[in-house]
Amino acid sequence: MPDSPVNLYDYERLAKDRLSHSQYDFIAGGATDEITLRRTRHILDSIMLRPLVMTDVSRIDTATTALGSRISLPVMLAPSGAHGRAHPDAELATVRAAAAAGTLTALSSGSSYTLEEVAQAASGPIWFQQYFYQDRGLTLEMARRAEEAGYSAICLTLDVKANSKRERNIRNGYRSLQSANHRWASSLPRDTAATFEYLEWVASRVPLPLALKGIMTGEEAGQAARSGAKAVIVSNHGARQLDTTFSTIEVLPEVVDAVEGRAEVYMDGGIRRGADVVKAIALGARAVFIGRPLFWGLAVNGRDGLLNVLDILREELEMTMALCGRPTLDSLDRGMLGFASPLLSILSPSAQTSRVPPFD
Ligand SMILES: Cc1cc2nc3c(=O)[nH]c(=O)nc-3n(C[C@H](O)[C@H](O)[C@H](O)COP(=O)(O)O)c2cc1C
Repeated sequence: MPDSPVNLYDYERLAKDRLSHSQYDFIAGGATDEITLRRTRHILDSIMLRPLVMTDVSRIDTATTALGSRISLPVMLAPSGAHGRAHPDAELATVRAAAAAGTLTALSSGSSYTLEEVAQAASGPIWFQQYFYQDRGLTLEMARRAEEAGYSAICLTLDVKANSKRERNIRNGYRSLQSANHRWASSLPRDTAATFEYLEWVASRVPLPLALKGIMTGEEAGQAARSGAKAVIVSNHGARQLDTTFSTIEVLPEVVDAVEGRAEVYMDGGIRRGADVVKAIALGARAVFIGRPLFWGLAVNGRDGLLNVLDILREELEMTMALCGRPTLDSLDRGMLGFASPLLSILSPSAQTSRVPPFD
């Protein structure tokens, strides 16, 4: 183990030493057998790059916009509850690191500081994440609080209609932390009956743009765009909710195709390398989010630790773009990726026994 971490996996190992066993497991874990959790890295690792070497890469540009906010790094911070579990400065450190890195934070409604306190500390763009609550008045009230505090978009998380089975937490007797935003209840009842009608109802009442998080199919992505969503986030909650879904990078293209440019498309899940960012953007994401790695950065060294996590991803991203001969985010496209070996179409059919690489 090196003294100073050189990649996000080093950060995870260092963070593991600093966090309690049950906190580490809460952050790192996934649902039931963690099949999707493992599959996510396996698929990302299995996508191969096809580099061009005779293009001008003297200037690499990683800037883009996210729902109108300029960001210089297309790696944003995913809404994730209670950053206080990793560092006492919690989300205050998170938004400071994001601003220093030129990126955006989506604040979880389950934050350790109130959304107003976090907004005060933020000098970069911020979105607020909430749910479709059973009490529709509360849904509007949370969005109104966020708008007044200066958040520029509302992220609605969709994939939580049932509590998932996270077996690490059950074994550890893990108890969830209280949100600072609504101290009167440990968690607020979400509307398990919510359909696109609820989305249309919110979209017609909330002036901020809505980003829907948890879309995993083309059919729902197309409907989301038609029902007023300005962005969809392809996400399976970091494989923490429903196990044995495809990994997000696998369904990203069908979502991109279905929205037909009517909404921005983002993706999260398993992003640990600059090359992963390239792959997601090449498949149509505008930018990606990271969840677990932000906790590793905070646990290791608060704001500076998280900033270093983002700097590592930026360096890897720029390096990968340069070595692929793709100097801008717009120049990343599907043609630069391969999945099956080119040998499959060349070697005799009898040799084609294992189309899918073995799963470890
Ligand atoms: C500890 C933890 C807490 C999370 N809390 C929330 C949350 O409050 N709201 C939400 O929409 N997603 C939440 N997520 C999911 C993340 O937004 C994101 O989808 C996921 O972490 C991305 O995968 P990654 O961790 O592999 O980067 C949480 C994830 C983690 C790891």
